[in-house]
Order: sequence, then C-alpha cells, then structure tokens
Amino acid sequence: MKTGDPSEKDVAIEDPNAPEVVLGATAGGGGAGAAAQEDIPNPIAGTFDGVDPTPGSPKPDEILVAKNVVRRFGGLTAVDVDEVRIQRGAITALIGPNGAGKTTFFNLLTGFDDPDEGDVSLNGNSINGVASHKLAARGMVRTFQLTKSLAKMSVMDNMLLGAGDQRGEKLSFSLLRGSWRKQESEVRARAEELLERFSMTHMADEYAATLSGGQRKLLEMARALMAKPSLILLDEPMAGVNPALVQSLLGHVEALRDEGVSVLFVEHDMDVIMGISDWIVVLAEGSVIAEGTPDQVSSNPRVIDAYLGTEDGGASSDGRQGRDSE
Ligand SMILES: Nc1ncnc2c1ncn2[C@@H]1O[C@H](COP(=O)(O)OP(=O)(O)OP(=O)(O)O)[C@@H](O)[C@H]1O
Ligand SMILES: [Mg+2]
Repeated sequence: MKTGDPSEKDVAIEDPNAPEVVLGATAGGGGAGAAAQEDIPNPIAGTFDGVDPTPGSPKPDEILVAKNVVRRFGGLTAVDVDEVRIQRGAITALIGPNGAGKTTFFNLLTGFDDPDEGDVSLNGNSINGVASHKLAARGMVRTFQLTKSLAKMSVMDNMLLGAGDQRGEKLSFSLLRGSWRKQESEVRARAEELLERFSMTHMADEYAATLSGGQRKLLEMARALMAKPSLILLDEPMAGVNPALVQSLLGHVEALRDEGVSVLFVEHDMDVIMGISDWIVVLAEGSVIAEGTPDQVSSNPRVIDAYLGTEDGGASSDGRQGRDSE
C-alpha cells in the first residue's frame, strides 16, 4: 500500500501521456481574493435532469469512472464498487455510514492505494497504477480526513510545496528558457492569492503546528489548489471545523464549482450535503447502494435503511454515527 503525503515526494516526472488539463478557470484566479461568490447561478443547473438515479448510471460528461473496483484487507472487503461515474463540473458527495469504505475508495481513486481488482479512468484514460503525484499533475488532487499539513513548516512553505508537481513537470522547459526564477515568483504569487482567498494571509509565517484543526483543513484545501486541479477530492473537509468557518469553506467549494472545477467530497453533515451537492453517491459496506439528487437520495428507502440499520443505533440529526472523525 502506498502511503504518504503528496508533499513528501513532489518530484514529478513529465508524463508524455498526460492529457492537457483543462481548467474552467484557474482556481483562485478569479480576480484578487475571489472569495465565496454570491448569487452566481449554478453553472451546471439542469445537468442531472434525466440522469437515471441508480448506482453506476451514466452521466452526460464524465470526468472520473470506476469499474469493478475491489479492495480487501485480509478477510474484509472494504470496497466492492461495480460502477461509479462522476460528472464533470459538478459537486458530487460520497456519503455513507462510518466504515462504509469512503476513505478507502478515495485512496484507490487517487493513487494512494491500489485496488485488488478494477479500473479507474480520468478523462477517459486509465489511471490504474498511476502514482498520486502524477495524478496531481494530470489535474486530480485530494485532501485527507486527517490533515497532512507539515507541522514544522510555515503555512507559506506548505503552500509552496503544494505546487511541487507543477514545477517538477515544467522543470526541463523552465531551465531551458531560464525562467525558473519567474516561475518561482508566479508560484509564490499564487500561494499569496490563495492564502488571501482563504483569509489566511496573516498566518503565512506561522508554523502549521500552531493552527487550529479547522485552519489546518483550510490550509490543506488551499495547498491542494496550488496544483490548479480540474478535479478535487475532499475527505471530510468540514470535520472539526468551527461552525463559523464551515460557511466560508462551503462558499469556497461552491466557488470552485462555479469556476469549472469538479468536486467529489466525503461528508457526514446532512445539512451540508443536502445544501451543496448536485449529486450524491451512497456507499454502504463497500458498495454503492444509491445515487441521485439530494431529493432523490433523501427519500430513498435503501439509504434510510443503511443509516438507521447501523450497529450504533441510527444517525443523529446531522447524519453522524456518534463518532469523532478527527
Ligand atoms: N489499512 C487498513 N487495514 C485494514 N482495514 C482497513 C484499512 N483501512 C480501512 N480498513 C477498514 O475498511 C473499512 C472501510 O474503512 P474506511 O476508512 O474506508 O471507511 P469510511 O467510510 O471512510 O469511514 P469513516 O466515515 O469512519 O471515515 C473499515 O472496516 C476499516 O476498518
Ligand atoms: Mg473516512
């Protein structure tokens, strides 16, 4: 099993097969300090009209597809997903009770773990066995349920490391053109812009260790955006975040979608899920048991059963199962 922080080995080798990463707009590039965007109509409104609300259903424009993906740990089958198809440009939630296999599935999708069986493709190209740092260079990044910011480095240095793949990919060209220094300053400018956007400018020189859990979540998301992703996977981005910051995080996630970035996120808070998701995929005991719009999923008896039928006796109002996820 591959483990580790993407920032530990951010030396990307140029991948000649890498597709051009198409960004609707550079995340964070929407003007200085572009923050939560109010009153912007959902750019993908209507996209899911007519999409079959059943597991594995085709989507109009798929960015990520997983087929027959299985991961076993000894005798336990943690993930056994027949088919999942993720729509480009949408906010898709991956939900399910504790231990359903959400994080394991994220690990398999993002090259942090290898499935025992199955295929995953990004933009129509197989990414089986492709390492996480190469996937970042191809536009897919993720954040972790337990944050991975490097405690003994400053916030700014954490951010600069987040661009490592990008810089590595272009290293040969930049040396040839002698533009290394220019690129360095562009990376720093992007880091400053993202810190501004996440209201963290005043913390740039602080050690990451001094940040609160919620601030570290923000840092991790900001750092992931340094790679200019077209698809970002967030594993419980709101867990442990102060309620005052949750609203701002939600605004950032919606702003990403409005800029054309595809978002796949794991979350337990039902209010957050229902409020922000364009589409929801429900995992239980490793398999997809339901898909649909928030309305379709919330009235699906299989989903209600999966949540109420867990050992610990049912979900609380926010859908959690009495567990502290941090
Ligand atoms: N490295 C591992 N070794 C053995 N078992 C594992 C490993 N990782 C996960 N599991 C098991 O696989 C199952 C799925 O775990 P996973 O962490 O993916 O669930 P999850 O849906 O993310 O849960 P949560 O909502 O609590 O984060 C659980 O039974 C877990 O104990
Ligand atoms: Mg998890």
